[in-house]
Amino acid sequence: MNSNTSNLALSIRHLSVMYDDKVVLKNVSLDIEKGKLLAIVGPNGAGKSTLVKAVLGIVPSVTGSFSIFGNHIDKMRKNIAYMPQRENIDWDFPVNVFDVVLMGTYGDLGWFKRTSSLHKQRAMDSIRAVGLEGFENRQISELSGGQQQRTFLARALAQNADVYFMDEPFAGVDIATENTIMSTLYHIKKEGKTVIAVHHNLDTVQKYFDDVVIINENLIASGDVSSVLNTTNLTKAYGKNFHSSYLKSLGPDSCAPFPSPS
Ligand SMILES: Nc1ncnc2c1ncn2[C@@H]1O[C@H](COP(=O)(O)OP(=O)(O)OP(=O)(O)O)[C@@H](O)[C@H]1O
Ligand SMILES: [Mg+2]
Repeated sequence: MNSNTSNLALSIRHLSVMYDDKVVLKNVSLDIEKGKLLAIVGPNGAGKSTLVKAVLGIVPSVTGSFSIFGNHIDKMRKNIAYMPQRENIDWDFPVNVFDVVLMGTYGDLGWFKRTSSLHKQRAMDSIRAVGLEGFENRQISELSGGQQQRTFLARALAQNADVYFMDEPFAGVDIATENTIMSTLYHIKKEGKTVIAVHHNLDTVQKYFDDVVIINENLIASGDVSSVLNTTNLTKAYGKNFHSSYLKSLGPDSCAPFPSPS
């Protein structure tokens, strides 16, 4: 990763986070380059969601500093989209697909301003981009898990942000939805934007992402996937008893045998 500040979508210095008296992230410093697809990996409870929430300012006890394109986060809120982990969304909330997606455009609105036909158009374009046309009026409680994920992806898209934080965008979706989500992420990247996604499936890290951050309370490694995703780092993150077929396929310190996306 690069140390030229103007090229950094996100820069984190000495981030530590506590919940009550328990430290869940310790002294994490890292730089994320603009225009990359980056995966954050680590075991359950490693602090992946906490890392994202800390940057977004939605966890209480945080020390350290961060900047987005060299600016304080408060100046950059309009430039950031966030798709939360699905457990954190109230799926019973009485709201339909169109309104959830339209909410993505609200960052553009000043006080008392009403949504324009342009915002509505952008919401519809985003719904179409994730293949949900025809579902606009459906309550989110009446969608399948994959359709719910697509709805929140469409909301993030409608935000037209520069940096997209996504917490497990592929959780619980079938391969068709995974492909739709991935093409959407490639499309976002093609526009020069940055995607930072918490990701669980180590088998697809090499195929989908440019860079990876491996954490487990501490930062274990960060950099381009081919140089960082190796047995040593994964064992540090997941422990000695981590014996997935994936890890076995890696050999002592080699990289995953996956082709790059075309
Ligand atoms: N609001 C909270 N209050 C207290 N502890 C919390 C809170 N949220 C998370 N934790 C704890 O902080 C640690 C990190 O949680 P976090 O949700 O960041 O993990 P994660 O890496 O995203 O895990 P997963 O893969 O299961 O989503 C865990 O031990 C978790 O139990
Ligand atoms: Mg999480």
